[in-house]
Amino acid sequence: MRAVVLTTYGGPERLSVSEIPEPAAPDPDGVLIRTAAAAVNPVDLQTRAGLHAGHSACHPPMVLGWDLAGTVTAVGGAVTGFRVGDRVVAMSAQMATGRGTYAEVVALPADIVAHAPASVPRTVAAGLPLAGLTARQALGLLALPEGSSVLVTGAVGSVGGLAVQLARLRGLTVVAQVRSARDEDHARALGADRVVDAAHLPVAGVDGLLETAGLPEAIGAVRDGGRVVTVVPRRVPAAERGVHVAVSHVEQDGRGLSELSALVDAGELRLRAAREFGFEEAAEAHRRLAAGGVRGKLLLLP
Ligand SMILES: NC(=O)c1ccc[n+]([C@@H]2O[C@H](COP(=O)([O-])OP(=O)(O)OC[C@H]3O[C@@H](n4cnc5c(N)ncnc54)[C@H](OP(=O)(O)O)[C@@H]3O)[C@@H](O)[C@H]2O)c1
Repeated sequence: MRAVVLTTYGGPERLSVSEIPEPAAPDPDGVLIRTAAAAVNPVDLQTRAGLHAGHSACHPPMVLGWDLAGTVTAVGGAVTGFRVGDRVVAMSAQMATGRGTYAEVVALPADIVAHAPASVPRTVAAGLPLAGLTARQALGLLALPEGSSVLVTGAVGSVGGLAVQLARLRGLTVVAQVRSARDEDHARALGADRVVDAAHLPVAGVDGLLETAGLPEAIGAVRDGGRVVTVVPRRVPAAERGVHVAVSHVEQDGRGLSELSALVDAGELRLRAAREFGFEEAAEAHRRLAAGGVRGKLLLLP
């Protein structure tokens, strides 16, 4: 089968399409999925550059990719929740497991797979798993009671955009931080109650902060004794004024992903696709994400 293979650590030019062996059969508790699309995420760029080289499964040559949307083509004997032909999505923690999704066929444990939302195109669904689970788990860790206020930084990014929508569904008042006035309408369309840029953050004015943009100084917006969760481990805000600070690392979770998928079908969670690339254009997709300013997911199609 064809896959986008990282030959050695380095720039986007190290990505190339190769023929690699197709998984022959699923494990008893696993499924085989024929890929409709994989999404490109910042972690893929970091892994490509060698920033996660300490992880046990990071050994080029390897296949990158965490996000997957596709169709089940084979089911292990112990699997009850899926049948051949089901449309599914999954988040595979590639750097920890070595199971990359930039491939025509991907073998995964069934418990990290969920039925895809039926209301969006097959490819667009690939934008849900990593960003959706990250936003959901970070909001869970933030644990703000209904009626609280939360500042979401990077609010029109992949994680931030889904976090704004999920925060509203949790009954939170959302202040959205965006890079420029150009993004204000976008943030409001996602459900933000108020939109600010980095120069106009509320001073000690919100109960919690969900930090996705690498802006540790945004902790200044949180009231004394409030709560911060960041998903950017390299830029963790220093705790101050009794504010509790935690880092959230996304975990594989098929059940949580099913709930997110159901929210998409209920019209409560909106997915945004920016552009589709073929596997052979993977390097260009990586360059495009690195350049910034992308609004919506970049999708890789076999
Ligand atoms: N801990 C975890 O488990 C986990 C999981 C997923 C992602 N992450 C990390 O979370 C971060 C966000 O991921 P993502 O997928 O949401 O990336 P993304 O789609 O690229 O979104 C990041 C957003 O932050 C914005 N941003 C950056 N600097 C900003 C600034 N100074 N002011 C306002 N906005 C700014 C970007 O705007 P521009 O496009 O204009 O630059 C972009 O909209 C990445 O660092 C990623 O590695 C961590």
